[in-house]
Amino acid sequence: MNKKRNVLALCCAAVFLLFGAGARAQQRPVACITCHAFLGGELARPVAEWNASVHKQNGITCDLCHGGKADVDVGNIKSLSPQEFADRQSRAMSKSHGFIGKPSGKAMFAMCARCHSDSVDRYAGSIMGMAYLGGKGGPSCVACHNAHNNIIPPVPKVCESCHKDTTGFDRIDPMNVSESTINELSRIRIRLAEEKARGAKPPLAPGFAEDLDPYQIGLLAFGGVLVMLAIGYLVYITLEKRR
Ligand code: HEC
Ligand code: HEC
Ligand code: HEC
Ligand code: HEC
Ligand code: HEC
Repeated sequence: MNKKRNVLALCCAAVFLLFGAGARAQQRPVACITCHAFLGGELARPVAEWNASVHKQNGITCDLCHGGKADVDVGNIKSLSPQEFADRQSRAMSKSHGFIGKPSGKAMFAMCARCHSDSVDRYAGSIMGMAYLGGKGGPSCVACHNAHNNIIPPVPKVCESCHKDTTGFDRIDPMNVSESTINELSRIRIRLAEEKARGAKPPLAPGFAEDLDPYQIGLLAFGGVLVMLAIGYLVYITLEKRR
């Protein structure tokens, strides 16, 4: 009798443990996402962008960058009174929990350095990094990588807003531009100019394919197939006539 009860208790414990672990493995509720998605418009845009990001895929939630208190219970957000809403907002976005809204300068570097310290060090010591920190028009991390849908940006497209001549930019490390990079860049440019002068033709229609989206490429490919079919048909007809 006692043995049976023990076995039963053990089974119950095992089931509880399994379910408990399962529940804990689920993503913790993030008040930032619930409330910002609810707010809509510009305040929800970061959520939509972040949803498609490498950070989301790696579980890097809002609070890991912005700080604040993400586990504030917002309950059924639609039914909160204005006071309750304001209370939840100020508790979640509270400075005492290290909340930071829009970082700039050193605060921007510190935000990313928590997880990307090597990349930050590389950039902070570069010509553009110093131009950013010194308020001299250098690009911030998110000027190139976006704040919420962090991408590896297309080079040189992302450079064109500030640089007129981007020749050779795709052959240097934009995160680590130094005096020696500038020398390297002028060597690259001289070489490119020489190749051009020697008549080494630049690739046909440079940058052409990159400017097309997949739909346009598909359309072009389809057109190509149609043209080939037409030619094939003509050849067939002429051969048939000769016989
Ligand atoms: C209950 C609603 C609510 C919650 C929860 C909430 N926010 Fe907000 N948040 C707002 C509102 C409303 C604004 C715009 C008005 C303002 O700035 O006070 C805002 C503004 C912001 C801004 C822009 C600040 C600026 O300086 O432009 C950031 C960044 C932000 N929230 C991040 C977060 C993060 C991160 C969390 C979670 C830790 C969070 N929010 C939780 C309602 C909320
Ligand atoms: C990788 C770090 C990072 C993560 C993760 C992140 N943010 Fe941000 N967020 C930033 C930075 C940096 C800015 C400042 C952008 C700027 O100055 O242009 C910002 C700006 C904002 C703003 C101000 C409006 C704007 O678009 O500039 C809001 C609101 C905001 N974030 C909400 C959120 C919410 C909600 C989440 C979670 C879904 C989130 N952020 C996740 C880094 C992050
Ligand atoms: C809490 C940790 C954390 C913070 C803070 C953080 N990131 Fe990330 N980031 C990651 C992880 C994890 C990945 C995915 C793995 C990887 O590629 O390193 C990632 C990936 C990236 C990538 C893509 C790298 C690639 O090779 O595709 C970029 C770009 C990036 N982060 C930029 C930023 C910027 C800019 C900031 C500051 C505004 C920032 N991150 C803040 C953790 C973080
Ligand atoms: C001028 C544009 C630009 C700026 C500004 C910039 N990056 Fe990058 N970043 C790139 C490009 C392009 C790559 C991919 C090629 C490479 O690794 O050099 C990259 C690569 C990365 C990677 C992938 C790993 C690595 O180190 O190669 C991370 C993470 C990253 N950047 C984070 C940051 C952070 C954090 C900042 C600010 C401190 C920053 N970036 C500033 C353009 C930029
Ligand atoms: C937000 C504007 C901005 C963007 C975007 C930007 N740069 Fe710069 N860049 C600067 C500033 C400012 C300097 C510093 C000029 C100085 O101090 O002489 C600079 C300097 C440089 C230099 C040093 C020599 C020169 O031509 O002035 C190189 C090389 C460079 N950037 C490459 C890049 C590349 C590659 C990208 C894109 C991946 C890029 N930049 C994107 C603003 C920008």
